[in-house]
Amino acid sequence: MAQIYASKTNEIQKYETEHENEVRHLAGECMVLLENDGVLPFSDKIKKIALYGTGARHTVKGGTGSGDVNVRKTVSIARGLEEAGFEIVTEDWLDRYDRDLEEAQKTYLKKLKDMSDETGEPSVILGFKHPFQEPEQPIVEETDIKEADAAIYVLARNSGEGKDRRAEKGDYYLSDRELQNIRFMTENYSNCVVLLNTGGVIDLTELRKISGVQAILLTGQTGNMGGHAVADVLMAKTVPSGKLTDTWARSYDDYPSSRTFSYRDDNLDDEYYSDGIYVGYRYFDTFGIMPLYCFGYGKGYTDFSLVTKEVTADEKLVKVEVEVTNIGKVYPGREVVQVYYSAPDGVMEKPTQELAGFAKTKLLMPGEKEVVTVTFATEDMASYDSYDAAWVMEEGEYTIRVGNSSRTTEVAAIIDLDETVQTVLLKNVMKDKEFVKEIHHMVPIFDLELDDTPFMRPILIYAENFKKKIMEYEVIRTMLEDKRPDEILTLEDVKKGAASLEELVAQLTVEEMADLCVGTERLEEGGNVIGSSSACVPGAAGDTTSALIEKRKIPNLILADGPAGLRLQTHFKTDKEGNKLPGGEQFGMEIAPFAKEQPEGAQDYYQYCTAIPIATTLAQSWDVDLIKRMGEIVGEEMEQFHIHLWLAPGMNIHRNPLCGRNFEYYSEDPLLTGLCAAADTKGVQSYKGHGTTIKHFAANNQEDNRMFTNAHISERALREIYLKGFEIAVKTAQPYAIMTSYNLINGTHAANHYDMLQNVARDEWGFEGFIMTDWYTSQDTTALGMVSESGKYSYSDGVQCIKAGNDLQMPGCRKNVEDIVDGVKNGRITKADLQRCAKHILGIALKTI
Ligand code: BGC
Repeated sequence: MAQIYASKTNEIQKYETEHENEVRHLAGECMVLLENDGVLPFSDKIKKIALYGTGARHTVKGGTGSGDVNVRKTVSIARGLEEAGFEIVTEDWLDRYDRDLEEAQKTYLKKLKDMSDETGEPSVILGFKHPFQEPEQPIVEETDIKEADAAIYVLARNSGEGKDRRAEKGDYYLSDRELQNIRFMTENYSNCVVLLNTGGVIDLTELRKISGVQAILLTGQTGNMGGHAVADVLMAKTVPSGKLTDTWARSYDDYPSSRTFSYRDDNLDDEYYSDGIYVGYRYFDTFGIMPLYCFGYGKGYTDFSLVTKEVTADEKLVKVEVEVTNIGKVYPGREVVQVYYSAPDGVMEKPTQELAGFAKTKLLMPGEKEVVTVTFATEDMASYDSYDAAWVMEEGEYTIRVGNSSRTTEVAAIIDLDETVQTVLLKNVMKDKEFVKEIHHMVPIFDLELDDTPFMRPILIYAENFKKKIMEYEVIRTMLEDKRPDEILTLEDVKKGAASLEELVAQLTVEEMADLCVGTERLEEGGNVIGSSSACVPGAAGDTTSALIEKRKIPNLILADGPAGLRLQTHFKTDKEGNKLPGGEQFGMEIAPFAKEQPEGAQDYYQYCTAIPIATTLAQSWDVDLIKRMGEIVGEEMEQFHIHLWLAPGMNIHRNPLCGRNFEYYSEDPLLTGLCAAADTKGVQSYKGHGTTIKHFAANNQEDNRMFTNAHISERALREIYLKGFEIAVKTAQPYAIMTSYNLINGTHAANHYDMLQNVARDEWGFEGFIMTDWYTSQDTTALGMVSESGKYSYSDGVQCIKAGNDLQMPGCRKNVEDIVDGVKNGRITKADLQRCAKHILGIALKTI
């Protein structure tokens, strides 16, 4: 192993305490109060708590898989409450569940091992396919009812990569036992609260029927200080000010993709996005379907009034000023001002409304006011016309709405455009051979409280004042000629200004570049543990080659997972030469034991990172400054442990609530998604030489058969919904890297999609960093047990990755390197193609030295 940056001491370090304290405080602001009849916050009289539910002692800090951050300790809700001074009176029930859980975990691990012995598949992969199922929780019986001042039930859910959630009891629906227990709880206690320790939407219809439930708080999954954060909120030390980033439907069947999503129609090969642009509230609002909780909804401990002071607009900018007053008498709070626009139906149909911008107030004391301003570019209201391959604003009235949720808005202004105008002219990309039949709305249905639109004088804007952009696309790749053949140029020369990046790249041989464009895992040579393939930093997900360090002074870049913090191995050992010894964390619940006898001179090392809230929970803050701060916390830890690239944030769209990885992503809305990813990136990248990798580009919306599923999506839906967030993040924050997704899009693997990687990301958006594959997508994964059951689609093509501009194949295998070299020899790719990829990687490497 190269130089070690881990700590030799197991003692708690200053940064850990500082980060944990800060996360604890900020996490409370991400929680969404769904219901409250006044029981929350708890009064001083509440001292004894009857606590039940699987998440009480086993609070889920984040999901499973690569998004699971290894930590020193996780504070459960039970512990958080105890440390806050509450007495938990239901130890017997909690102990019973502990015993059942321990038993179930042992059985599960044994089952995985047996399956692995039988099939030869690594147990990590088997763990993805067969995730752990929590055992049935014990019945709350008469004897479990104790004297208490309040009762809390913690409903928890867990999910992760490789498997979608199920529309079944115990997952999307509450189990019979959960409902039975909660009912019994409400019959026996007053002051009953249900906490949702979930990473995404669950069905709350049955829960809502239980009248004794006096408050429902979506705590989300808030990292390793979760229990403290929850206790703080229950006691109003922090006030919850989160808002939903998804529509919570009254019935799962209300989601437009409910019938066909992933496993639901027995077709895991092809996913037809017939919902088109109608994802989330765009669908519910336009098709007149009443949600249980709408997008943007969330209560606080106080109430606010919103008064729009002024709206100004011209052909460039729309500016909305809103005065927010805390009209409550007791508690402070923060409010989120949400601005939506409704574009006119024309040649293209439009969703009823779309989020245009938002702003969160500071903490307002009772009676206090603040004027917040939301601005957005006028052309952001354009829609994509795939017939003309252009962003177009159609003539007519654009209604601007202001509110504190998507369904409590009032009309604030009407902007009237005199004629239809193209704002950007592009070219058609990512076409499908198959036609995707999409849903359409015939007549606009708008059943919000918006019909009483007051008369207002429209703000007039004129098509002739718009400046149309015409995109230019790559035509030819020219090979860089070596102009300094007598010298051996290095990356340090480039850094010093003694050579240009192009001059260095021109000198690299095809073999050197092939090595650079393939990560360092070589499973065929003995291999590493899946998910922690870095040879440099234990537990990091991978790294780029060390082969060019000596001759070219090109350092290797070390990549580690996220998004809910930095995923490293917390404890490892080396021999006296610094070589890592076996043992330590793996995916899932497994921790491989260290050998009892360690060689002489063996050394222990520690890398403790902070688990921050999962992306969905973070986004619920609707506070980009808070998210940026979380990024800074991660950036500081990356600096400490020498990680160059964080494999985060994840930013796929929540198309359907059952996607197993939704918790790693922000929202159903692309604008909110893009702004969150940009803020996270700005936070991380404020640490020089450390960057983010936005992922999974794009449409990685399903986990079952994730490597071999083909997403059929119209170009309009792609550009308005599935690519939009990435576009915002690239244009406003320039992340160091992008990771392509496993799936195919319209028949081509995302990893191989020239249109998407070159034309869209680079030519249209101006992306300057490098692009990498998701793990193993460009190699034969049969030996790893990652295969398509039907065999309809195969893995992506490593040589085409280079052609498409997918610069780095991760985690890499010898065959990837050989294929690239052969590809140049047999003319499938040119040296110029390879030089471009090398240049992109080196451009980022340059920032790290
Ligand atoms: C996941 C990625 C992750 C990578 C490395 C893959 O299985 O899809 O999100 O970054 O592994 O751990």
